Amino acid sequence: MNNLLKQVIDENKKYTNYGQVASYIPELKNAKRSDLGICIIDNNNKIYTAGNYNTKFTIQSISKPIVLAMALMDNDWTSVFSKVGMEPSGDPFNSIMKLETNDTKKPSNPMINAGAIVTTSLIKGNSLEEKEERMLQFFRRLANNDSIGINYEVYKSEKLTGDRNRAMAYLLKNDGFINGDVEEILDLYFKQCSIEIDCVDLARIGINLAMYGVDIESKERLISEKVSRMIKTFMVTCGMYDASGEFAIRVGIPAKSGVGGGVMASVPEKMGIGVYGPALDKKGNSIAGIKVLEDLSEKLELNIF
Ligand code: DON
Repeated sequence: MNNLLKQVIDENKKYTNYGQVASYIPELKNAKRSDLGICIIDNNNKIYTAGNYNTKFTIQSISKPIVLAMALMDNDWTSVFSKVGMEPSGDPFNSIMKLETNDTKKPSNPMINAGAIVTTSLIKGNSLEEKEERMLQFFRRLANNDSIGINYEVYKSEKLTGDRNRAMAYLLKNDGFINGDVEEILDLYFKQCSIEIDCVDLARIGINLAMYGVDIESKERLISEKVSRMIKTFMVTCGMYDASGEFAIRVGIPAKSGVGGGVMASVPEKMGIGVYGPALDKKGNSIAGIKVLEDLSEKLELNIF
C-alpha cells in the first residue's frame, strides 16, 4: 500500500501547479504550494503514508463536522436544527447571501461558515477558556494525539482579517440564530479553525468516524453511531461546499476540505484518509488532494455508492 500511495502522490503532484495557496487569511500564504502528502489508517489500525504526510497545517473548515458532533452531543437535536439547516447551499463557503434571501434566514447547513458559527456558539462551557479546552480535548481524543494545539499566528491573522465572518455573526445574532457575546463566539470559531494537525491526525479522525464513533485503538466510544452517521452524511452533501455534487460523483466518499489544504475522508468500515495539498482550486478545495482521492477511490474501489 505504501508503494501505491507513493505512486499516486507522484502522479498527481503536477496538479499542485494549477492551484493557489489561500491568501485571504494572510498567514496561510506561507504554505508551500508544491506540498502533497497522504496518510491512510485502515480498520486494522495499520498506518500507510507518502509525500508530505507529516507537514503541519491548520485544520480550517475540517473542524466544522467535528464541532457539529460536539454541538449535537451538548444539545438536543431539535434545538440545534432550529438554528442551522440540513441542505446544501450550492454557494461558496463564505457566502452571506442566503442569510438574507432564505425565507427563514437560517444558515443552510453546518459546513458553510455561517452554519459553523452557529454550531460553535452551541458548545457548552462556563467560560470561553472552558469551551476552548473542551473543544481541544475532543479533537485530541478523536485524533488520539495529546499534542494537538492551536497555531496562534494563523489564529491572530484570521481574527484580524475575518470581517466577513464577523459580519455574518452579527447578522446571525440579529436574527436570533446565535445568543451571547458575538466576539467570544468568533474567537472560539477562529481558534477551532487554527488547530494544527497533519495527515495522520486527519486519517485517525476519519477512521474513527468510519467505525461509527468507536476509537480504532482504545475501542472507546467517542461519538454515538447516530451522530457519526449524520456527520458523514453532511460530509457527502456539503463537505466540499459548492463542489460537493461533483466530488460525490467523481470520488464517492464522505470528505471534508479546509482552506489550509487538508481533506479528511472517511470510508465507512474501511479507512480514514488524510490528504494535504495547500494549492487550492477556486472553490477553496485542495486541487491535487481531490485528484489523489479520485485516483485512490478508483484503484481501491472505495466509492460508497
Ligand atoms: O472561516 C474561514 O473562512 C476559514 N477559517 C475556514 C474556511 C475554510 O476552510 C473553507 N474551506 N475550504
